[in-house]
Amino acid sequence: MALYKYLISAINKKEDLFMELSKFVDKLPIPKKLCPKYKGHGWSYYEIRMKEFKQKLHRDLGETTLWGYEGCYPGPTIEVRKREKVLIKWINELPDKHILPVDKTLHGAEHDVPEVRTVVHLHGANVEPDSDGHPEAWFTRDFKVRGPKFATKIYEYTNDQPATALWYHDHALGITRLNVYAGLAGMYIIRDKYEDKLNLPSGEYEIPLVIQDKMFKENGELYYPEQPDNPPPGLPNPSVLPAFTGDVILVNGMVWPYHEVEPRKYRFRVVNASNTRFYNLKLSQEGDATAPPWYQIGSDGGLFDIPVPMTSLILAPAERADLIVDFTDFAGKKIQMLNDAVASDDPTHSIMEFRVTKKLKGEDKSYLPSHLCHVRRIPEYKACKVRDLSFGAVNDPNYPRPLFLLDNKMWSDPISETPDLGSVEIWRLINPGQFPHPLHIHLVQFQILDRQPFDVERYNATQGKELVFTGGRVLPDLNERGWKDTVRAEAGFVTRIISRFIDFSGQYVWHCHILEHEDHEMMRPFLVKEPDRH
Ligand code: C2O
Ligand code: CU
Ligand code: CU
Repeated sequence: MALYKYLISAINKKEDLFMELSKFVDKLPIPKKLCPKYKGHGWSYYEIRMKEFKQKLHRDLGETTLWGYEGCYPGPTIEVRKREKVLIKWINELPDKHILPVDKTLHGAEHDVPEVRTVVHLHGANVEPDSDGHPEAWFTRDFKVRGPKFATKIYEYTNDQPATALWYHDHALGITRLNVYAGLAGMYIIRDKYEDKLNLPSGEYEIPLVIQDKMFKENGELYYPEQPDNPPPGLPNPSVLPAFTGDVILVNGMVWPYHEVEPRKYRFRVVNASNTRFYNLKLSQEGDATAPPWYQIGSDGGLFDIPVPMTSLILAPAERADLIVDFTDFAGKKIQMLNDAVASDDPTHSIMEFRVTKKLKGEDKSYLPSHLCHVRRIPEYKACKVRDLSFGAVNDPNYPRPLFLLDNKMWSDPISETPDLGSVEIWRLINPGQFPHPLHIHLVQFQILDRQPFDVERYNATQGKELVFTGGRVLPDLNERGWKDTVRAEAGFVTRIISRFIDFSGQYVWHCHILEHEDHEMMRPFLVKEPDRH
């Protein structure tokens, strides 16, 4: 896990802040399911308000001021059917002042725009550009001020994609990391008839797990550092951090919670909603006894062909995993979900605890099928274009801090990725840096072809002119062979992905999902072009 060291190294002012919060003393909250305001045949209409409120996040913490959809953190779960037309009016009722330190030197967050801006993106959705939550389509309280890309007020989601778990979160240019950290994130589940037929664990046996890391002040309020430790002279205050990792892990808005389960199968819909932190999830039973069997049955964009038996699961920011855990033979036992990306004496090694203390209410009739779904591979020969996209690090020209770029371009540089509507493209994500970046593309669900190591020194010495491979192509992990919208672009590797740009044309974005990078230039627009008709 050396690769992840940078991302978890504490650059935060931990000493004076960290307080010992006991683990596994609070129950896991289950976000409520949101009811539509109106519902018709094949469509539904929701209104969702973003509000400031207070919520208790741990037994021994005072109430924490948060921002959330419908006044809760995480936001309510939205559950829809495939092809159901869902209209959502997103309403900003937040105050004018941010609860976290805003760096006004970042693109889009300058002094001449309102400090509090929001725009909602449904991550992983196939939607028209005007409903995608473009970072410049932000609006303020009651739509009083609108960003330059403002288009529609009521977003329209067609949900014309396979059953899966998406998540919605804020995407306002230059302050996404702060808005999401403040609590603006929730789960969105699409269901379809193929999934229905599988008879997977459902109802109270299907549980969303929204994982985030945070830091707290002594008074229970959220802490987000204004600057990295030992700031060099000339750094603005506040200044964006190169990475943020908290010292406390929350699941569904509770610090290190526990959940009582029955001895049977459960389905967990996991999303890593953290700013920077990568997890390596593990299940473990006290005293090193065998942990329950667990399987991953789906990824970002839908179910796999077959379940993948798991021993550990890397989850980068924004990635989702659809898991089945079988507690059947574990009555009376305590099972912890751990994070093996950090050493066992690090507090963030723990995530939550399952206690198999409930009586079985009835026979477990749910099923883990050996065949789930058919993931149709996009054949490589269909690709009409291969794009080489590098992940570089330079010095911020204005301040003493690093700047991570995609393809060496800034957010405001002219659009360079312009796939034709309906076409298939291969993107080669070339990462000559020290750590992985989770790369996310809006609009599409793609497939990972492979990763191949290359001579990083030579690549850097020749300014990217010489790309020399040093090994063979490595197939993606077994649990990376389904539909993806976020992929780890590993350091020292060229990661190849293949996508079909279908259904909608217009402007979208692709970016690193480390929110501190996305807010600081590691995001680019792309344009799906209507093919010329002569
Ligand atoms: Cu989850 Cu463009 O983001
Ligand atoms: Cu997205
Ligand atoms: Cu990044």
